[in-house]
Amino acid sequence: MRWCKFIKFIFMVVLSTTIFTVTVHKAPYAHLKKLVNNSMVEHLFHEEPCACMERCLAASDDEWFTKRFRKDVPPVLALNNSDLPNHIFKWWQSLQSKSKANYSEVIKDLFSVIPGEERYRDTGPSRCRTCAVVGNSGNLLGSYYGPVIDNHDFVFRMNKAPVQGYEKDVGSRTTHRIMYPESATHLDNSTHLVLLPFKILDIQWITSALTDGSIKRTRFKVIDKLQATRDKVMVMHPVFMHYVHNTWLHIRSRRSYPSTGFLVLIFAMHICDEVNVFGFGANSKGTWHHYFENTPKRFKRTGKHSGGIERETILELQERKLIDLYTGW
Ligand code: C5P
Repeated sequence: MRWCKFIKFIFMVVLSTTIFTVTVHKAPYAHLKKLVNNSMVEHLFHEEPCACMERCLAASDDEWFTKRFRKDVPPVLALNNSDLPNHIFKWWQSLQSKSKANYSEVIKDLFSVIPGEERYRDTGPSRCRTCAVVGNSGNLLGSYYGPVIDNHDFVFRMNKAPVQGYEKDVGSRTTHRIMYPESATHLDNSTHLVLLPFKILDIQWITSALTDGSIKRTRFKVIDKLQATRDKVMVMHPVFMHYVHNTWLHIRSRRSYPSTGFLVLIFAMHICDEVNVFGFGANSKGTWHHYFENTPKRFKRTGKHSGGIERETILELQERKLIDLYTGW
């Protein structure tokens, strides 16, 4: 009789422990979720697209943005994505004077010198990559933005823009420099180079500039042997340039194409989680003046670029809180 009571007691203890464990411990979130209907708790159960507190750009559900932003467009050329659809190849050729070079051969030569794998496809819930896109506008002078710019993970600068002597306004770090042969400058071994290929000769030039230096002229005399670390060199994809032209700026004219700065801004929006923009903005005459020089007299307004449409788009991005635009003085 005593034995029976003891076995019954053990059975009850095991049963109640199991029920408690299953209902509370094995499914703690479901249990809590049922009890609390609170947005803070909802937030805990939802996996974030990136680890930034401020915003995760690529995951924005803003309708104006999602109509334009196409995550699938590759930002840089790689061995497995270099094919160009016919209509894009034609658009690309319309920017340049006729060339007899064979595109596939040019790509093969390029990837015998720089790495051919895809880059920057590493977005995810544990990443918060902040990026500063620094244009060359004179509105940087006297801004004291230097420390704010340097505080980003990536700092993008363009063409020959110097930092020496301007550190308090423009910062001192450069992780990426974006340029084309005619605007090229030598790099230190920690800086990435992103080449903008406005023509097929530009891709031939980078291959040559990192090897034998045989190409000495493009549109005019250019640097023939470039100081840059091969592993840190990449080429913006012509498909990406076409996407910026067509989808972001809706440009139909063949005479105009996106500016370096605007291409870099959209590029940054594709590879970063949070983007802040500095050094964009014309002077009172509507000319893109530089912080480091008197803009040449022959330079008219915004050159071959649709400065107005670019400006409106940047302001729209700011208005929708997708970027922060620092306008200087
Ligand atoms: O003049 P540059 O092309 O070297 O300048 C880099 C980029 O900075 C431009 O392509 C343009 O997008 C931006 N810029 C600007 N306002 C200026 C000067 C440059 O928005 N005053």
